[in-house]
Parts: sequence; C-alpha cells; structure tokens
Amino acid sequence: MTLELELGELATEIAKEAGELALRRRRDGVHLAATKSTIADIVTEADREVEALIRARLDAARPEDGFLGEESGAGSGTSGITWVVDPIDGTVNYAYGMPAYNVSIAAVRGSSEPESWEALAAAVNAPALGELFTAARGHGAWAGETRLAVTSDTSAGALLATGFGYDPATHDGDLATVRLVMPIARDLRRSGSAALDLAYVAAGRLDGYFERGLKPWDFAAGALLVEEAGGLVSRHDVDSTRPMLISGGPEVHARLLALLGEKR
Ligand code: IPD
Repeated sequence: MTLELELGELATEIAKEAGELALRRRRDGVHLAATKSTIADIVTEADREVEALIRARLDAARPEDGFLGEESGAGSGTSGITWVVDPIDGTVNYAYGMPAYNVSIAAVRGSSEPESWEALAAAVNAPALGELFTAARGHGAWAGETRLAVTSDTSAGALLATGFGYDPATHDGDLATVRLVMPIARDLRRSGSAALDLAYVAAGRLDGYFERGLKPWDFAAGALLVEEAGGLVSRHDVDSTRPMLISGGPEVHARLLALLGEKR
C-alpha cells in the first residue's frame, strides 16, 4: 500500500471516531469555552475535546509526525509529515444546531506552512449530514464509494460559494468581492464551513468557491479533495494579511482568478 493510502486510511478512521464524538457532544448540548479573534469567533468545549482525541490517536499511531491544530497549535515532528486538523470546521453552525459542520484532517508532506507543503491525504467527515469525503494524492477523491469529479459545464452561470471572516471590519471588503463575482454567478451559497464548501466543489455540487483569510486547517483537507476531483485550488496575496483562496473546475477557477486574483 502506498504512503498516501496508508495516511488516508488513518485520517478516515480517526475522522470517523472524532465525528461520532462531535455528534454525541452536540446532542448533549453545546457549551461555549471561549471566544478567539473576535466575539463572533467561538470555540466550544467539543472543539477542544475532539482535537485532543485526534491528537492522541495520531500520537499513538505516528509519533514522529508533526501536528497543526486549530485549537491546540503546532508540534514539530521528524518524519517530514505534518497533520493539519480542524476538529470542528463550521463551529458557528455547530453551536447553533445547523448540520453543516465537519471534522477535517489532512496529512501533508512538509512543514505547517501551506506554501511549503504537498497534501497527501484528507478526510472531511460531516457526521450530522452522514457524509464522509476522503482523498489520497494520486488515488482520487471519494464520498463513500462514489468517485468525485468537479463540474465542467457552467453555461448557465456558476453556482458559487464563499465565506466571511469573523472580523466585522472585513465584511465590507468581502461584500465588494461578492459584487465582483456576481456577473459570472448563477447563484451564491454561504454554508459556514470552508471544508464542506471545498468538498462540495469536489463533488460537483458547487462550481467554485472563494474566500479570503482562511487558516491552514480550514482548507488543507478540502483542497486535496478538489485537486483529486480534477479541480484547481490556488491562494493569492491580494492584500497584506488575508490571502484569497480560489477553487473550482479549471474553467471556473480561471474565471474567478481573472476577477479576484489581482492585488486591490
Ligand atoms: C470557519 C468556517 C467558515 C469560514 C471561516 C472559518 P471554523 O472555520 O470554515 O465557513 O467562513 O473563515 O474560519 O472557525 O468554524 O473552524
């Protein structure tokens, strides 16, 4: 078995267990643990508990690997592999009882800096939706037994998704970005979960997705799903602090890139 498939199996197994824990804690009732960058940027006790479970399972299975998690930070390793983990992507949905949240786990070759890594394996498990998306580099992207493929025909306009950062000071800029893309859009969705947006691009349920200011754990797993489904993902330095992530099938990616890829 290739390293990519081996890492993919481990990511999948742990994402399943972690997803069950997140779902159980949601049914028990959610407790806020803290706010982070702004008052809207929350962390629940479940985020921390789920990340601790994932980290413990990875430490036991592959103690030489590095780790980068949304809640517990970074730990360096010696194997050259780093795990990039969002224990609950879509935390606000989770807190409000909306089902669009997921456990997102990626194994990358390289450091925890997205510019330096190559993603090798990914699992995005959305337990309240009953969906598990997986990918291993060179082996395709999958939803269960179904192989995923991005869309190619967007003659009726592109079904796009985006997200907005937690900082109210960035909302105007994000809305201006939306105005820029609407001429090529059939419609726009905002799910509240970057990893699911990317999984949906991979699955052909969206034609494209863009968002500024994502953190590595928001897109590490989802980006590999898109690439393994035949799509493209790129990041652009459009302003000093919030890189723009653009994803889609090759044609939509090119059209989004032309509209959003330049510095403003
Ligand atoms: C957030 C979600 C959201 C996106 C934000 C992310 P979190 O991740 O992916 O859709 O718009 O930029 O931070 O905080 O729920 O893990």
